[in-house]
Formats: sequence, C-alpha cells, structure tokens
Amino acid sequence: MLQRAELRPLQGEDEKDEWLSHVHYAFAPHRSGEEVRELQERRPEPEMLEKKGYFVDGAMVSICGLIDFTGRLRGTWVPIGGIGPVATPPEHRRRGYAKGMLRDLLVQMRDRGIYTSALWPFYSRFYECLGWGVSAESSGFKFSTEDLRRLVRGFGPQGTFSRASEEDIEVLDGIYRCWAQDYDLTIKREQQWWKWNVLTGWEKRSPYVYLYRNSHGDASAYVIYLIRGAEDNGRTMHVMDYAYADLDSYSALLKFLLDHDSQVGTFRIDTPANDPLFDWQATGEVKRHRGIMFRVVDVCSALEAVPFPRDLRDSAVLEVSDSLCGWNEGKFSVAVSGGRAEVCPTDDASDVQLDIRELSQLYAGYRSPEQLQKNDGLRVHSVDGLDFLGRLFPQRETYMAEDF
Ligand SMILES: CC(C)(COP(=O)(O)OP(=O)(O)OC[C@H]1O[C@@H](n2cnc3c(N)ncnc32)[C@H](O)[C@@H]1OP(=O)(O)O)[C@@H](O)C(=O)NCCC(=O)NCCS
Repeated sequence: MLQRAELRPLQGEDEKDEWLSHVHYAFAPHRSGEEVRELQERRPEPEMLEKKGYFVDGAMVSICGLIDFTGRLRGTWVPIGGIGPVATPPEHRRRGYAKGMLRDLLVQMRDRGIYTSALWPFYSRFYECLGWGVSAESSGFKFSTEDLRRLVRGFGPQGTFSRASEEDIEVLDGIYRCWAQDYDLTIKREQQWWKWNVLTGWEKRSPYVYLYRNSHGDASAYVIYLIRGAEDNGRTMHVMDYAYADLDSYSALLKFLLDHDSQVGTFRIDTPANDPLFDWQATGEVKRHRGIMFRVVDVCSALEAVPFPRDLRDSAVLEVSDSLCGWNEGKFSVAVSGGRAEVCPTDDASDVQLDIRELSQLYAGYRSPEQLQKNDGLRVHSVDGLDFLGRLFPQRETYMAEDF
C-alpha cells in the first residue's frame, strides 16, 4: 500500500515531547526521562534549531533538526544548512525513513536558497552514500603534564586571565572571528549559538570560560574547558573551544592550562590539522580525526555564489551524478571569467564525470581533482578539463569546531 510521507515542523507540545524523546533515546539513552525534562527546562533549544519530524501515514518515524548557518567558503559567506540531530526510533529503522527524510530536507533547503549543508556523521559511509563527503580534519592532542611543561618552557611573559561568562560573548566573538578567518567552513556565531551551544552544548554542560588580556590590556585569547574525573592524577582537562588573535596569546593560553598541573594529569585539545603545535614540535599523543561532512545542495547556485581565481578565464563541462537530488544530475557547462562562474545545463560532451560527494569535496577545498581521480574514481575525459578543475578549486584550510 502506498504510504503518505511528509517532512514538516512540529505542531503542539505532544509532537515536541516525542521529538525530544527520540533525540535522547538516540544520543543519551543513559539519561532518565526525569533528567531529560530537567535539563530541557534549564536550557531549551534556541529558535535557530528548526525541529522537524518525518511523518509516514501520520506517525513520526524519523526526526531531524536544521540550523541555517552562515559559513565561510572560498573567502566569502554562504548559507550552510547544519543538519543534526538525525534519528529514527528503533521500531522504524532500516525501512529507508532517514534517507527519505534527508531527501525531503534537501528539497526544502534548495527551495529556501540554502545551497550547501554540513553534518557530523556517526559513520561516514552512511552519509557518503547520500552525497556528503568528509571535508575537514582535526588533530586531537593528548598531553601529559610533562609534555605540556616541555612545550611551554620557552614561552614569554603573560598578561592576565579572568573568568568570563555570557556577559562577555561580544568580546569572545571578536577573538573567535579573528581566529576563524584562516579557515573555511567556520561559521558566524550568533548570540544564541554562543549561549546554547558553545557555552553549553547538547549535554547542557557548564564549562569554565577564561579570557586572556595581553600586556596592553587587549582581549586576545579565550579557552573553554571541562575538568573530568574524580582523583587528582586521573583528572583530564578537556578543551572544548579556544581561539587566539596571535601566537603569543596562544602560548599564554597553553601556559594557563599548565597552571592546572596540581589538579589535572591529562590535557586534551582538538585543533585544526595545521595547528602551530606542530611547528612548536609538541610531544604527546596526536591523532588525526576526520571532521565535518559537507554537501553541495544545489550545484548551479553553489558554483555561481563563490569567487574563483580572477586570472582564470576558461570553461569545461562537468557531468554530475546525485542519486538524492535529481536537479543536480546531468551535464553543466561551467564558464569562469572575472572571478565568477556562469553555470548552465548543456548537452555537450563532458570533460569530467564526478558524483556530488566528489564535487562537494572539491568545492570545499578539502580535496584536489588529482586526489579524487586517484582514490575515488573521478573520471576524466580531457586533460584540459582536469587542469581547469585544479585551477578552479585550489585547496583550502578547512575546519569546523561547532558541535551540532
Ligand atoms: C542511523 C539511523 C538514523 C538510520 O536510520 P534508518 O531510518 O534506519 O536509515 P535508513 O533505513 O533510511 O537507511 C538508509 C541507508 O543506510 C543504511 N543504514 C541504515 N542504518 C545503518 C547503520 N547503522 N550503519 C550502516 N548503514 C546503515 C541502510 O541500509 C540504507 O542503505 P540503502 O540505501 O543502501 O538501502 C538510525 O539507526 C538511528 O537513529 N541511530 C541512532 C542515532 C544516530 O546515530 N543518528 C545519526 C547521527 S549522525
């Protein structure tokens, strides 16, 4: 029998409660219903998180959230639909509901002009099959007290640190904006995002927030962290977020962490893949992590929105496959001049054949065409086409610190 499916905003308190219970079953099943209600009352989700339910024949069979971010891409601001949380309650799993919901969500995003999207995967293969591609990495450092002491030994004198709070969001945001401009995929953080996410998070934690002022009294770094574990030596300091305006301020921040050596035995910090810690030859454990997954939602709008190298005056035909978004399927002529692209459907022979995941990784600047050709199967029909793609999409530094 034909099922009637729709993805829509929640209506009424009962649907909101049901949505929330699916989120907690999926992501925090250890919490009791009582705890969930209490956390919820303390810090309800902000308006910018659009809660949606996927209803089949009237039953909520899968849920998701959409956050309409503005993010940095190729040096300009673009809309990025942040997707999360995605969950199907266990009684409805493996029936194609999450996939159907994401397909409908992509249609809604396209209709609203949100032509790119990003999400954190539980398992990247699941989303790769749906067109998202890993588009950033991070380095996870784990320092012992000795590692950190060795690292900060040569660092110069410090300014001052003071405890910060929601009252200081404007100052924190100024430092964040300065730091974030070196990375694509970083987002503009609105007040409500700072309050609800950066200074708390899904698990509604209350981290410590410290602000650093240099010797001139300028606010030039901040660090947000949790201290976990019960016993002195077993405790871990987990840095959840940080930013700095210059390297002196970053080194002061690391010295500040070390001043917790009487309380903490292990320090964890996630950084962009190219962090100065590598130049400073930090010792300790370091692991590379695959980062956020990114997807172009609408090929034409996305390609026409961002600036390209001004000296590039050329064109090629890209043949794109996209099993979820029919409007992205087919051959597109991409003609670039004066730093902008003009994109239109064509019947001409293609120079390069690629799927939407590969195109998304190129667009984000995370992969080069040569890497995709070697590892993933980007198909090249003309050497000029490959060369064009390389000049069109120079690689960029990408990083996404937000948790959603
Ligand atoms: C992950 C989850 C959302 C999948 O929901 P679902 O409705 O069962 O997924 P679908 O039936 O639409 O599956 C879509 C595809 O993914 C595959 N798939 C589903 N669950 C999978 C899993 N756990 N691991 C790998 N592949 C999976 C399906 O086989 C299907 O593949 P196909 O298109 O080739 O047939 C659901 O298991 C869940 O809520 N898990 C807990 C919360 C979670 O991890 N959410 C994701 C956060 S990023």
